[in-house]
Amino acid sequence: MAPASARAAQAQPQQPSADRRLSTLVGHLLPSSPRRTAADTSATTLESFPTMASQGSSVFAALAQAPEDPILGVTVAYNKDPSPVKVNLGVGAYRTEEGKPLVLNVVRRAEQMLINNPSRVKEYLPITGLAEFNKLSAKLIFGADSPAIQENRVTTVQCLSGTGSLRVGGEFLARHYHERTIYIPQPTWGNHPKVFTLSGLTVRSYRYYDPATRGLDFKGLLEDLSSAPLGSIVLLHACAHNPTGVDPTIDQWEQIRQLMRSKSLLPFFDSAYQGFASGSLDKDAQSVRMFVADGGELLMAQSYAKNMGLYGERVGALSIVCGSADVAVRVESQLKLVIRPMYSNPPLHGPSIVATILKDSEMFNEWTLELKAMADRIISMRQQLFDALKSRGTPGDWSHIIKQIGMFTFTGLNSDQVAFMRQEYHIYMTSDGRISMAGLSTRTVPHLADAIHAAVTQLK
Ligand code: LMR
Repeated sequence: MAPASARAAQAQPQQPSADRRLSTLVGHLLPSSPRRTAADTSATTLESFPTMASQGSSVFAALAQAPEDPILGVTVAYNKDPSPVKVNLGVGAYRTEEGKPLVLNVVRRAEQMLINNPSRVKEYLPITGLAEFNKLSAKLIFGADSPAIQENRVTTVQCLSGTGSLRVGGEFLARHYHERTIYIPQPTWGNHPKVFTLSGLTVRSYRYYDPATRGLDFKGLLEDLSSAPLGSIVLLHACAHNPTGVDPTIDQWEQIRQLMRSKSLLPFFDSAYQGFASGSLDKDAQSVRMFVADGGELLMAQSYAKNMGLYGERVGALSIVCGSADVAVRVESQLKLVIRPMYSNPPLHGPSIVATILKDSEMFNEWTLELKAMADRIISMRQQLFDALKSRGTPGDWSHIIKQIGMFTFTGLNSDQVAFMRQEYHIYMTSDGRISMAGLSTRTVPHLADAIHAAVTQLK
């Protein structure tokens, strides 16, 4: 097999501009200078290398300063800003009306129960993680009555939140799947192309968002998936598409499913917002369950960062729905070979919290109420921002703010307007104009509306 860099270079772009951007990204991600061979090394004298002994010099002296991450770097800049009116709408992290991070009450209770249990020890988990957590996670996303679970066709491994699940799944596919091209929506979460490129897959894009309608480019999506090579992997956001907040309708999902199955395209779902989009865990899993119900195979990356507020605990799971129970056993054995040299085995605390909550019906119910309250607060922020812009007579149609779903609004503001709002109003968001509605409160809506009004009237 050719190395990832060579495969990426060979890929023929289908949507030139999006795929050209991906190629540039690949260029940045992969090592730029050729590796030193044994012959090179022996031909070079030791004195030509800087050592720690020579004051002021460094073996890393030639290293370029890397840019901040486009999403997490927004928080770095925000933290440096002394302004009392600053607002961070960059990273997708829930905040209360008071602008504070929220630890769910049910999570606090679960942690207390774990701490009070003297029989708990700190032994290593198996490579695949906490078995109880894995079972409960599969049930949560696929449904308790899922035929795939009942037929033992699902293998689930605990991973480091959604990102870790995507990375383990990507690397597994690069090693064992016959088609190594993954199609990702244009646009998508900024980390997706990096995760999959470094997994060893070739990343290409399919049309998803239409800036003219600020909605789904459904025709473009179907065209691009129709012309993808048979068997290609396709990344799908299960709900609350990040960054656009635009999801297919159930009818559109059904058409996507039929097309993908007819071309043997392999679905790789990313579910980072189950329950967070609509407030209902089942509703937000509908797209995924349609693909499981047809008996076909798929990959599923799950995160508990947003829906249980366990961001820093890094709790997630990768499930692979296989054609048979026998295949699922062998898939799991290979997943262990991916995980062991990567991080050996996953952490214990986060999945223990999740399992404590998911297995107890009273705690589960409390969680769903807290989850619904978070989702409702975000939905109310959408309405408040929309109303505030309307009342200011801000030019433009802002109805997409209330139509889009989930944590983010893809405002349509351009990078100059974003920079202006940071400079003049101390409002921080990603340069693509995405704002985290979860970072907004009734108190900060007027300030944001003033800033957007000024940006669109002063910078066209
Ligand atoms: C986001 O998109 O803001 C979140 O998923 C956080 C992250 O890691 O980028």
